[in-house]
Amino acid sequence: MKIIIIFLTGLFAVTGSWFADKSSDTESYKDPVIFSDTLKKDSETGLIIDKDLYMVKAQCTSCHSSKLIIANHFTRDGWKQKIRWMQANHNLWELGETEKQVLDYLEKYYAPTQTFARRQPLKDIKWYKLDVK
Ligand code: HEC
Repeated sequence: MKIIIIFLTGLFAVTGSWFADKSSDTESYKDPVIFSDTLKKDSETGLIIDKDLYMVKAQCTSCHSSKLIIANHFTRDGWKQKIRWMQANHNLWELGETEKQVLDYLEKYYAPTQTFARRQPLKDIKWYKLDVK
């Protein structure tokens, strides 16, 4: 009897850890928003690793730190306007055909994200009188 119990405990331990490994954190996210915390970052720039990263590094990190990119979140159009602004005021060159690649990347990983730092104001509050004696 003892042996059976030991065997079963061992079996549960093994299958338990096997199931735990199967359900990774990223799989349980159903939200379409990309959680940048779960993505791998480039050790040199801190930018999120992606097939288009090399182009962003080439076009966007020679004048200033990549932190300026990471700290910002714009729509595709917003990023385009920033690029135009740098072209007009800070000698950024024409990106030509690579602009699409750069914008694809920025739109994908550095788009405006919803934050939940503050909850919605309460609605339909049912106040009640405190019975203080
Ligand atoms: C030719 C130099 C140059 C290149 C290349 C360059 N930038 Fe800039 N960028 C600047 C300058 C100058 C500023 C202003 C820095 C400051 O205010 O201290 C700036 C500022 C920024 C800002 C901050 C804007 C703000 O409103 O504060 C962002 C975001 C940015 N750049 C993104 C990019 C991206 C994305 C690329 C690649 C397409 C890029 N930069 C390439 C020169 C450049």
